[in-house]
Amino acid sequence: MPRTIHLTVNGHKHELAVEDNLTLASLLRHHLGLTGTKTGCEEGHCGSCTVLVNGSPLYSCLLLATAVDGQAITTIEGLAVDGKLHPLQQAFLDEEALQCGYCSPGIILNAKALLDKNPHPTEDEIRYSLSGNLCRCGLYQRIVRAVTNAAHSMAAKGAR
Ligand code: FES
Ligand code: FES
Repeated sequence: MPRTIHLTVNGHKHELAVEDNLTLASLLRHHLGLTGTKTGCEEGHCGSCTVLVNGSPLYSCLLLATAVDGQAITTIEGLAVDGKLHPLQQAFLDEEALQCGYCSPGIILNAKALLDKNPHPTEDEIRYSLSGNLCRCGLYQRIVRAVTNAAHSMAAKGAR
């Protein structure tokens, strides 16, 4: 029996009828067409499905849609503003910190949550924060460099 939930996704309000067993990842991808949220393991191991729930990074494959009723969700599609990439997205391009790109949405969102809390993270803090996000292409050095550079450019511009 579907239940009605209300979500704000990337600033847009939605009223949705969902089944009790629908995950947030499936809701975003299949009901809202936000396929930037990737699914890999669907068991909470890889982090590719990471989205922000009220600003905190969570695995959307492990969350039931009904459990986030009333919450604000940010997906990778919500980061660019007026067609301008978020500094983290730009830094990933500049540092070539993506190859297949499958891990990138989850890593970028996790990094955003880190920089929102800690605008000047050390390399160790970046590595620790991103430890729940796997990159099968093995670009960890570049990813850390991209997050570091984004932190510097955001601090210089007072951006978020
Ligand atoms: S798909 Fe969610 S943690 Fe792997
Ligand atoms: S860029 Fe391919 S998994 Fe990270």
